[in-house]
Amino acid sequence: MPPDQDRILILDYGSQYTQLIARSIRELGVYCEIVAPEIDTDDIKTFAPNGVVLSGGPASVNDEDTPPIPVEILDGRYPVLGICYGMQALALHLGGDVETAEEREYGPARLTLSSQSVLLDGLEEITNGVDDPLQVWMSHGDRVSELPPGFVTIATSPNAPHAAIAHPERRIFGLQFHPEVTHSVNGREIWRRFLFEICLCQSHWNASNIVDQMVENVRGKVGNDRVLLGLSGGVDSAVVAALLHRAIGEQLICVFVDNGLLRKDEQKDVRAMFADHLGVNVLVINAQDQFLRALRGVSDPEEKRRIIGRVFIDVFQEAAGNVGRVDWLAQGTIYPDVIESAGIATGKAKVIKSHHNVGGLPEHLDLNLLEPIRNLFKDEVRQIGLELGLARSVVFRHPFPGPGLGVRVLGEVRREYLEILREADAIFLQELRKAQLYDSVSQAFAVFLPVKSVGVVGDNRAYEYVIALRAVETVDFMTADWKRLPAELLTTVASRIINEVRGVSRVTYDISAKPPATIEWE
Ligand code: XMP
Repeated sequence: MPPDQDRILILDYGSQYTQLIARSIRELGVYCEIVAPEIDTDDIKTFAPNGVVLSGGPASVNDEDTPPIPVEILDGRYPVLGICYGMQALALHLGGDVETAEEREYGPARLTLSSQSVLLDGLEEITNGVDDPLQVWMSHGDRVSELPPGFVTIATSPNAPHAAIAHPERRIFGLQFHPEVTHSVNGREIWRRFLFEICLCQSHWNASNIVDQMVENVRGKVGNDRVLLGLSGGVDSAVVAALLHRAIGEQLICVFVDNGLLRKDEQKDVRAMFADHLGVNVLVINAQDQFLRALRGVSDPEEKRRIIGRVFIDVFQEAAGNVGRVDWLAQGTIYPDVIESAGIATGKAKVIKSHHNVGGLPEHLDLNLLEPIRNLFKDEVRQIGLELGLARSVVFRHPFPGPGLGVRVLGEVRREYLEILREADAIFLQELRKAQLYDSVSQAFAVFLPVKSVGVVGDNRAYEYVIALRAVETVDFMTADWKRLPAELLTTVASRIINEVRGVSRVTYDISAKPPATIEWE
């Protein structure tokens, strides 16, 4: 938690939009944290928020066993904003009534402002270049049917006679709609008013301050100790490396394991970026043989993942034993991982994705865990990465799975297959960059299919392997659509791969959506 900085507490009642609330607030430069509604009174006091937001949620306030409202937040010290479920819960708690509507309302709706409020006054004048500045996004079954004492209705909508309510003296507000969703045209303005005019926050949460605070924080925590960090080549560990390097310089030791499943030139690029450019201590471990030996003859994807994860831990542990005394293990955990694994929304711990294949590392090393970016969203991680001087190409690179090309060579992993895949993949990414389409794609890569297909290469009949290309667009990687890349680009890529990569006679483009397909092929 950043010291001496204004902050908002978000009580999460389980809405799919809770993270968007947090991001809306942080984008306006105010720090916030998402917590479960069961939070202790003392923790609220310690956090000392400037205001409290109650999120939406899937439950009905008329159900039994609904999540609580901490009474502490209603003692008059904090402005409060309830959204959707949060508004209904407040209304019921404070003596109003909530009814379950016949039909769920989902989609755009238009507000009519009905009495004065700091929150909504004059919004109809702020057009943002659209026809309807009062358009908001609704997603609810229940609605407030009777106001609690002292409240006024500040806006109505065709389906919600109390679409927005307020108790101006107590500074309690409720919105039936979702200002955190971009379809609410003036949502950002509503957040701005809540933060700066109602909670009287100041805007201090920006990349440069975040870096300063984190540097100070790390120095305070670590002192003269030495810190070990596994560099994966991904954005999060890269940012942690840059941050720790700024904070503690030589006390940081990075280990980069070349597992033989990396993309072309990856080892060289990591050295160039961290060791040469930033001057970070990087120990590169060449463990290609160890990984490939362990993978020999294995074709089951989950078994491959397990082996790669296990060998990684062995290799890393051995490296850790060779770098002298270290006291801390740094990890690039980020806020969505924290929220997800804590299962804040539901109160139940959700299963952590088996994706986090190096998650077992801390238990194997007897070190203190340092997670300097665990309160940051991905876009904030990128912003501070730029602030710390990392190249755009590092900060905005596509995600790459821990098991790497190990799950992109289908079935058994062989050195010869990896070499083919590496070349094909590099051509695809190179052409994508050349066409300036890399940033418009969420993830793009090649996959090696260990089947042979007939073709004519030069004047000869060829009987060679197949490469599949995959490029997807997605916001959260939970669902994804295939990217409509220009046909000319795909033609160039296919032709270059077949001509330049020996052993390939055919290239296909994957047009499956997730679901039902996944992004990776294994
Ligand atoms: P799927 O294939 O599940 O992928 O649609 C969703 C996202 O997760 C990445 N992914 C992984 N990341 N270890 C990782 O660190 C893994 O085992 C793994 N499997 C998939 C995938 O690249 C995509 O971004």
